Amino acid sequence: MTFKITVLPGDGVGPEVCREAVRILRALGHFDKREFHFDEHPVGGAAIRSHGTPLPESTLQACLASDAVFLGAVGTPEFDHLPPDRRPEAGLLRLRTALGGFANLRPAISFPAIADCSPLRSSRVAGADVLIVRELLGGLYFAEPRGFGDTKDFAYNTMRYSTREIERVARIAFEQARHRRKKVTSVDKANVLETSQLWRSTVTELAKAYPDVTLDHMYVDACAMHLITNPTRFDVILTENLFGDILSDEAAAITGSLGMLASATIGGEVDLYEPVHGSAPDIAGKGIANPLGAIASVAMLLRLSAKMPHEAADLEAAIRQVLEAGHRTRDLAQPHQDRSHPIGAHEMGGLVEQAFVGMLDRRFSYHAV
Ligand code: IPM
Ligand code: MN
Repeated sequence: MTFKITVLPGDGVGPEVCREAVRILRALGHFDKREFHFDEHPVGGAAIRSHGTPLPESTLQACLASDAVFLGAVGTPEFDHLPPDRRPEAGLLRLRTALGGFANLRPAISFPAIADCSPLRSSRVAGADVLIVRELLGGLYFAEPRGFGDTKDFAYNTMRYSTREIERVARIAFEQARHRRKKVTSVDKANVLETSQLWRSTVTELAKAYPDVTLDHMYVDACAMHLITNPTRFDVILTENLFGDILSDEAAAITGSLGMLASATIGGEVDLYEPVHGSAPDIAGKGIANPLGAIASVAMLLRLSAKMPHEAADLEAAIRQVLEAGHRTRDLAQPHQDRSHPIGAHEMGGLVEQAFVGMLDRRFSYHAV
């Protein structure tokens, strides 16, 4: 049985963190009867350089023919001068549309071992475990009309949602909540926006089908505040595309580093996994990026696409174990407290692999007895 993963390293630190993600899957391949098969293709700035377009047809076809897509990051200052539809980011947005995943899951967890990396007081973030479910294919990012006025002295975008678009992503949020603490906070701006009023009434109606899940509603400005002053009050946050983009970066403050955050985009033809941190051009090529966001995205892939929940949990435990042993990449290191030098992406990947293999050894030998 083969499981085909299309790997899109992309730009900046993307290739460095993808390498570590792939090594974890290869290590798992030695234990499981499933054979992971990897196929690498260019996207974003890398694809503009090699193919003149941020999403070459060959990349797209490979993605559509795979069981899951794993993406590093897109975006490079080199192409900042290009119009929006030819920039590296346009490749990612086109890919998201083509794959069809409309629900972007972004967990933000406070790990005790690195709670002091958070700019927030440890007593506030301790125990926080939030899952942001961001609508990914609608709203201001995609709706028409959009553009610059003829006279170029004005520009416009459209916020537009249908009940169908709201319902399908809300359903995912409720289902995720069922496996967690059974609470959904739907975030909108219903005091101002019609799209938000439709969002709120649609989610309220759908909630009747999930009587075991508690639903509350919050305005996005208030949510931005509560997320960092009282993050433990949240379980699942359900919100539209742009609000979710902003809140998920803010949620990084809970974990302590953007480099820790993972994501999964589900609901379409092929699911897409990517760390949230982006291309980080300032540290690209130095080998110092934090690969844990990418590795945690592998755990999401194992759980959601490969249907290997035990191995996913093992990998998450391996990440925790390595952090508890005191290993830190530069973004997590605190020069005044840590005696050891921060480690690089490859070293961190190796430590997680080792911890993961230890757990798999136990799991598979136990099953063999
Ligand atoms: C993200 C990124 C993307 C987005 C960009 C690169 C288009 O910020 O995944 O959060 O806005 O969705
Ligand atoms: Mn973003």
